[in-house]
Amino acid sequence: MSLYAKHLKTVTERFDQALADTGYESALIYAGQPRVAFLDDNPAPYKVNPLFKYWVPVLESPKSAIFYRKGSGKPTVYLFQARDFWHSQAKIPAEDWQQHVELKIIDDLSKLTDDLGDELAASAFIGEDFAQPVSDWNVKARNPQDLIDHLHFTRAIKTEWEIQNLREANHLAAKAHIAAKEAFFAGKSELAIYSDYLAAIDARETQMPYNSIVALNDHSAILHYDVYDVVPPRESLSFLIDAGALYKGYCADITRSYAREPGFYADLVAAMDAAQQELLDEIKPGVNYYDLHVSMHLKIARILEQFEFITIDAQSAYDKGITSAFMPHGLGHFIGLQVHDVGGFLKSAEGDSYERSQRHPFLRLLRDIEVGQVFTIEPGLYVVDQLLEDFAGSADINWKKVDELRPYGGVRIEDSIVVGEQGNNENLTRDAFKALGAE
Ligand code: GLY
Ligand code: MN
Ligand code: MN
Repeated sequence: MSLYAKHLKTVTERFDQALADTGYESALIYAGQPRVAFLDDNPAPYKVNPLFKYWVPVLESPKSAIFYRKGSGKPTVYLFQARDFWHSQAKIPAEDWQQHVELKIIDDLSKLTDDLGDELAASAFIGEDFAQPVSDWNVKARNPQDLIDHLHFTRAIKTEWEIQNLREANHLAAKAHIAAKEAFFAGKSELAIYSDYLAAIDARETQMPYNSIVALNDHSAILHYDVYDVVPPRESLSFLIDAGALYKGYCADITRSYAREPGFYADLVAAMDAAQQELLDEIKPGVNYYDLHVSMHLKIARILEQFEFITIDAQSAYDKGITSAFMPHGLGHFIGLQVHDVGGFLKSAEGDSYERSQRHPFLRLLRDIEVGQVFTIEPGLYVVDQLLEDFAGSADINWKKVDELRPYGGVRIEDSIVVGEQGNNENLTRDAFKALGAE
């Protein structure tokens, strides 16, 4: 059985259980369609419904849909191919998945509703429905939360096929990261670096899984910096790049930080890299991800102490909330069909959820670690003046040292990890760099 066939079997079993538990006969998963900008006729870039690409690796065929009848073991894929002389249709290469589904080509959505007839009324619709005729379809429910929670909970454990796609996505992104690193050392602008990134993997920007962060110098302290200067700075001291790639709809999300010269900032990058690798060793089934996040804060506190950013001991810096000013975001998140893959707060398939942490409000993952989960580990340390304002005048912070780091912005290092038995984990990101002879 191919990896895809096994994946499809898992997806059908998960849908069977979810539909049985929530009381639906079938699910109709609509791929979605592009929205046009206000008072305009130009479409925004189209992003397929993640629960559609969970079934089949078809990313660019809007208005397609999947119908799955509980217990049938086989979905019907209504692949929309418009009769349209204005636009080209996405090319669908012959692939294994077509052998395992019932494939119906349609050029009008009425063909789907005619084909399904009365079955539509017992079906749970999952997708966006802002446009006719989809908004008028007579379905049993639209995006029922209990069904979606069920699917999101079980999606956290990845199939082998998904892990293989994530490996490939990391391989692509690592290749592009190597090109970006060269462009940084060649002194190029942020935009020019990013052009080299995309060119290295023949990608266009709309094919990126998220807005890439390409930041020179102090820009790297802006957590989601994505505006890109078109001229290089007088001096490129530091470079932080957080950028990914897509493979069959699965996302890579990689961050690397580079120093132009040896010295203080290079030492800080090395210390953060060592701390990140220590954290990787703490990933084991049964550990709660929140505890890993706290462990990361304590490691950052020790780095703050070691580099004399603070005048108090590491534990006190954590207790007083100082580490959160230097490291405001979460340690990481699930990754898969979506860069911030869903289900990080869910406790069960029934939709019970973990209470969000007041102390660490931006952490997206509160679940216990399990074999087969894939998540990122992305500690950072930055000079974010807005957050440091809360400690203005405090003698706990060595402000001279903060001033020293400010022109470099910050550091983040981010890998994606597949959880294995007994801590026998796979680092998708470092393995990809190694395979390319880098790192
Ligand atoms: N690139 C977004 C993130 O790291 O979560
Ligand atoms: Mn991330
Ligand atoms: Mn990232």
